[in-house]
Amino acid sequence: MLKQTRFSTKLIGTALLSLAMMSGCATEQLSHNGPSLKDAYAGKFLIGATLNDGMVADPSSIKMQIVKQHFSAATMDNAMKWGPFNPQPGVYHFEAPDNFVKFTSEQGINAVGHVLFWHSQTPDWVFKDDNGNLLSRDALLKRMRERAKLMASRYGDKIKIWDVVNEAIEDDGSLRKSLYNQIIGDDFIEQAFLIAADELPADAVKLYNDYGMTRPGRVATVIKMVNDFKARGIPIDGIGVQGHWDMTSPTLDEIDQNLSALAATGLPLHITELDIDFLGRSQFFGAAGANVDLQKRIATPENNPYPDGNFPASADAALGDRYAAIFKLFLKHHKEIDRITFWGVTDGDSWLNGWPVAGRTNYPLLFNRDGSAKQALQKVIEVGLAAQ
Ligand code: GLA
Repeated sequence: MLKQTRFSTKLIGTALLSLAMMSGCATEQLSHNGPSLKDAYAGKFLIGATLNDGMVADPSSIKMQIVKQHFSAATMDNAMKWGPFNPQPGVYHFEAPDNFVKFTSEQGINAVGHVLFWHSQTPDWVFKDDNGNLLSRDALLKRMRERAKLMASRYGDKIKIWDVVNEAIEDDGSLRKSLYNQIIGDDFIEQAFLIAADELPADAVKLYNDYGMTRPGRVATVIKMVNDFKARGIPIDGIGVQGHWDMTSPTLDEIDQNLSALAATGLPLHITELDIDFLGRSQFFGAAGANVDLQKRIATPENNPYPDGNFPASADAALGDRYAAIFKLFLKHHKEIDRITFWGVTDGDSWLNGWPVAGRTNYPLLFNRDGSAKQALQKVIEVGLAAQ
């Protein structure tokens, strides 16, 4: 399925690129003149980005022109999570997800559903009855099934890749004691995949997704879980490696070894949330990770060196070198990786402007805040073209 889609996406992408070049449109001048990211990696991986509500509401914006030009996959950053989508019982915010699937299907971009079940950004009501007491296991499983059913009925024909469960395993490999786990028990992940298999279309790729996929404890548990699911016939189709990394952590060797170990399960890998925290976080937390629950720091001149949005050329070159080295590694694993998605389009869209340091100006992606191309974009494209 993915291979066919890749082929058609490449054709559409090439046609769009030619159109942009013929019309000499503003996007082309702003973003990038040469081959696009998705063309540089065509036949190897889908290349994706996350979109926000504002972007999908205005498909003619510069950012969406960049998406059309460079990306063959797209994920909503927040709008399909349980909280933003269904903040109170019976209240649904369909607008952004509807815009998203309209845009992706019109453009031949592979839409990714993010995320069915996650402990974060999920309202309290999901876990409680009318009296404020925690639900029974069966009642929560019923609510989960209703959510999966609704997603399938509204978006099933348009979304063929789903993050089914996000971040249910801790750094040390233990199961996260989320409300899902407390109410349902240690088989919460398994139950979620059984529900997804029943309710989502059979041809949808269903992923387990997590951060810190170089931490030995978590990786060991993910591998054990996948092998156990396969042995017992619990349907799971792929592993999502978020990829919220920084300039030094994890090391290339750590990434390489862990991709090999995860791929040895036989499931395809998706790099689901790639960004490089240029300003760093390992100095605060000891190693790259993305636990959104960790306490935030306050911006200071030391941890926020470029507050005005101007990224020095030498810094851009260093970011590009880090990205290029990581993409060379992804190419080494190209038979095992189906998709690489960046978490955001431009630096201004990134969550890393607010975490783990509130209010700093970060530079983790391939496009500047105004949509112009960074050196990092060119370096990543060159790595892909060299392998074509
Ligand atoms: C996690 C989640 C994403 C997003 C990112 C960054 O990794 O999976 O939905 O919230 O954090 O904000």
